[in-house]
Formats: sequence, structure tokens, C-alpha cells
Amino acid sequence: MRLLSQSAEDTAAIAAILGKELVSGDTVLLYGDLGAGKSVFARGCAGGLGVHQTMASPSFTLMQPYRGDREEVYHFDLYRLSSPDELYFSGLEEHIGGEGVALIEWPQMGDVEPDRRVSVVISRGRNEQERVIDLMLHGMEDRAEAIYRALSPFETDTEKQA
Ligand SMILES: Nc1ncnc2c1ncn2[C@@H]1O[C@H](COP(=O)(O)OP(=O)(O)O)[C@@H](O)[C@H]1O
Ligand SMILES: [Mg+2]
Repeated sequence: MRLLSQSAEDTAAIAAILGKELVSGDTVLLYGDLGAGKSVFARGCAGGLGVHQTMASPSFTLMQPYRGDREEVYHFDLYRLSSPDELYFSGLEEHIGGEGVALIEWPQMGDVEPDRRVSVVISRGRNEQERVIDLMLHGMEDRAEAIYRALSPFETDTEKQA
């Protein structure tokens, strides 16, 4: 589904709605250019999972763990990964699609695509504050309808801006 965000607060709110629906074993893949809003989305999602700690950038550690009210949350940023092998050698991939919820920025750097996943593609909109968020669920048929319904207030049929 395609969502329209008019501000960083909107993006965080959208992500929090999604976060409330996530359960252990789910993975959120966050695609988009630098500054698109992937980290804003990851923090919102973690908030929805009941993470109360301040979240730092995991770009140098690759992954930062947090304790949510319901699930462990693993926030990945794979931007600085030199190759997908590095993720496997690090042993961190055990936190993807396992216990807890993984939120992954730059998943393409690690060739990460678990069967059960939410793909989120964030693109810039018509002004500095606007973002178009394309969200797709895979392997979550049992919960898809509830999640799409919860996000429907932000739904748009806007054509993607160049
Ligand atoms: N609609 C929006 N959604 C998300 N971020 C936005 C939006 N409008 C402006 N911003 C700003 O864009 C920046 C996004 O930064 P960040 O989430 O770190 O990007 P990324 O992790 O994709 O590199 C933040 O400074 C945020 O305040
Ligand atoms: Mg980021």
C-alpha cells in the first residue's frame, strides 16, 4: 500500500502503528536514500513495540539491541557493510527472523530478505517534508488485513513523484 507522510512526525506515527502489530520473528526492511527517513521510521516502529530508550545510530556497530515491552528489538544499519559475508561472519544475522523483531536499514547491502517481512520504501515527495512510503507485507497473510486497515488513515493513491 502507498502512504503519504507530511512530516517526520507522520512517518513516526505510521511506523508506530506498524510496530504495534509486529511480533517476534518479524523483520522490517527499510529502503530509501540517505535522509529519506529510515531511522525516523525505525525509531517510530520501536516506539510501537514499547522501546522507551533513546535510540542511537547503529551504523558503526551494525546492530543495536533494545528491550521492548513485548519483544526484543534489533535495529540494524548495514550502510557500512563491506559485503554480505561480513553480516554472516558477524553472527548478527541470527537476530533476523529469529527471536524478537529486526528493523533493518540498507538491507540490500547484506542481501537480507527473510520470507516473513515488511518492505518499506521511502521516497521524497513534492516538498522538503513530504515522503511517499510504499509498504508491502510478505509471508504475513494472517495479519495483513489488520495491518493495512490500521494504516489506512495515511493511505494515498498519489503517483510517485520523480
Ligand atoms: N516526512 C518525513 N518523514 C521522515 N523524515 C522527515 C520527513 N520530513 C523531514 N524529515 C527529516 O528527514 C530526516 C530523515 O533522517 P533519517 O531518518 O536519519 O534518514 P535515513 O535514516 O533514511 O538516512 C530527518 O532529519 C527528518 O526530520
Ligand atoms: Mg538512517
